[in-house]
Amino acid sequence: MRAVVWHGKGDVRVENVPDPRIEAPGDAIVKVTATAICGSDLHLLDGYVPWPAMQPGDILGHEFMGEVVETGAGVTRLKKGDRVVVPFVIACGQCFFCRKSLWSLCDATNRDREKLEALIGHAGAGLFGYSHLYGHYQGGQAEYVRVPHADHGPIRIGRGDLRDDQVLFLSDILPTGWMAAENAGIEPGDTVAVWGCGPVGQMTIRSCWTQGAGRVIAIDRVPERLAMARAHGKAETIDFMAEDVYGRLQEMTQGRGPDRCIDAVGAEAHGLGTVDAVVDKAKALVGLGSDRPHALRQAIQCCRKGGTVSVPGVYIGVLDKFPMGAAFGKGLTIRGGQTHVQRYLRPLLDRIERGEIDPSFVITHRCVLDAAPDAYLTFRDKTDGCIKVFLTP
Ligand SMILES: NC(=O)c1ccc[n+]([C@@H]2O[C@H](COP(=O)([O-])OP(=O)(O)OC[C@H]3O[C@@H](n4cnc5c(N)ncnc54)[C@H](O)[C@@H]3O)[C@@H](O)[C@H]2O)c1
Ligand SMILES: [Zn+2]
Ligand SMILES: [Zn+2]
Repeated sequence: MRAVVWHGKGDVRVENVPDPRIEAPGDAIVKVTATAICGSDLHLLDGYVPWPAMQPGDILGHEFMGEVVETGAGVTRLKKGDRVVVPFVIACGQCFFCRKSLWSLCDATNRDREKLEALIGHAGAGLFGYSHLYGHYQGGQAEYVRVPHADHGPIRIGRGDLRDDQVLFLSDILPTGWMAAENAGIEPGDTVAVWGCGPVGQMTIRSCWTQGAGRVIAIDRVPERLAMARAHGKAETIDFMAEDVYGRLQEMTQGRGPDRCIDAVGAEAHGLGTVDAVVDKAKALVGLGSDRPHALRQAIQCCRKGGTVSVPGVYIGVLDKFPMGAAFGKGLTIRGGQTHVQRYLRPLLDRIERGEIDPSFVITHRCVLDAAPDAYLTFRDKTDGCIKVFLTP
């Protein structure tokens, strides 16, 4: 089959690879009908998760859907022919964490747990297409995927009116935006500031309104992403290249600061020549640092006293110059983590079915799987107005 394969920093290729097969009774094989490229894939492309955590030949992709073509003997909920969206989190459904609905912290699915434990103390769940720290599962930017624990992830989608592009983002960015807003603990009428107007930021903005925000302020520097935040997200916007974010946010909130601040940027923030951002970049270039947390620092600095900082943006290692003094001094609550996708599938599919949200608005580019290497670069470099790439094998 054809699949998008990682070969090194900045090097992804589409290649012929062996078809996946059933390896355990709980597996299903899904024939992919639609997949997408995520901001998290860029961390792999850009070498933020370097060798040996990524190895040449790894198949990328964790946002995908398709048709079940085969099931293992132990699968009871799915059958051949079902149309499914597959969450990027692989979870067993039975461990301590799954029973608490903390799906992305599943204790049973990460086949690389010792390596991740050595890095962060305890290992999270296995993830599709996401390195030899998260279980080295092959990803969904491919014609077929092996889906382990198939009874505890994929959600069945009817053959009715919904198109693939309307439901695909249940696999990741829609639940991620929803959980980002939930983690922010929005109280009715709150002012929420969202850093990053990529696909995750866009889903977050929409979720903030649904969860009761009175005002949403979105921050980025890419004109078409800011425009989408205004047009689809009904957000006010700040271009961080043109304005001082701290000063502007204080001015907009009468000096109090936004009640809730959400970092939908993650480890590859840009920083307009500020000292912290220049040092982050230099350290990342020579391999002394794994993250560039400028947006997170700024969110903590801007947030009102007693407010919440929610972090859907992915961080990888030990952060430099983390402003713990500000977080402590202002009594902030900080929450984040990989999305517990399984928890949100049903309620968010219900919202899509009721027509309350159509996440396909975020798609700017549609192409075939073979065009993925170019699409990765277009998405990474934000050229050609690219915000989200929808791929069909
Ligand atoms: N928690 C999860 O489970 C989960 C799931 C999906 C994605 N993510 C993460 O969410 C983040 C965003 O994903 P995406 O697909 O939207 O990625 P993206 O790269 O398309 O978007 C990031 C945006 O942040 C903007 N940005 C950069 N520096 C900034 C700054 N200093 N201030 C404001 N904006 C800034 C960029 O211009 C870009 O538009 C990534 O870190 C990704 O890994 C997390
Ligand atoms: Zn993702
Ligand atoms: Zn589990």
